[in-house]
Amino acid sequence: MHQMKDDIKYVLADEKKIQETCDRLAQQINKDYPDHNRELVFVIVLKGSVLFATDLIRRIDRPCTMEFMKVSSYGAGVETSGFIQVSLDLKRDIKDVDVIIVEDIIDSGRTLQKLCSLLATRGAHSVKCCTLLDKPSRRQVEMVADYTGITIPDEFVVGYGLDFAEYYRNLPYIGVLDPSVYSE
Ligand code: PRP
Repeated sequence: MHQMKDDIKYVLADEKKIQETCDRLAQQINKDYPDHNRELVFVIVLKGSVLFATDLIRRIDRPCTMEFMKVSSYGAGVETSGFIQVSLDLKRDIKDVDVIIVEDIIDSGRTLQKLCSLLATRGAHSVKCCTLLDKPSRRQVEMVADYTGITIPDEFVVGYGLDFAEYYRNLPYIGVLDPSVYSE
């Protein structure tokens, strides 16, 4: 019987590595947000970052809240030509709160760049970004996350939230998809 793991060329980050990364990122965030009087909101970008977000926020040892957004970024070429389409927006005001956007991966950087600017225009006290994976070799706009988990090469990765045609998100690790799967 064909199994998901048969489509994985190699494992890039196993469960242990992912959990260690979540530990490190949460420790940094816990240290950076000592003011418990100001609300800290994690804005979780659907769908890819859901698994990461649940592992990350259960390690946050101060009060915090979570909200969800679904966005897509479009536009090639120069930075200013891209725009962001929001298909699921926040249902609340984020004025004066600290926001941490949670992403599974930064690729071109367009999504996070646009989303950071959008949330900043809504009057947040601060907007920072936390990404599990970073593919700096694919960057098209200047974008550096405030918290970066694992820097990876330019490979097609799936698992732990990341998909190919909506599948593989449920793999517990992050693997490189065998090219035979998407060139079929
Ligand atoms: C992925 C990822 C980021 C974005 C990164 O989302 O979750 O949001 O692409 O790419 P960029 O840096 O080039 O903008 P995707 O649109 O695949 O949606 P999904 O999370 O629902 O799979």
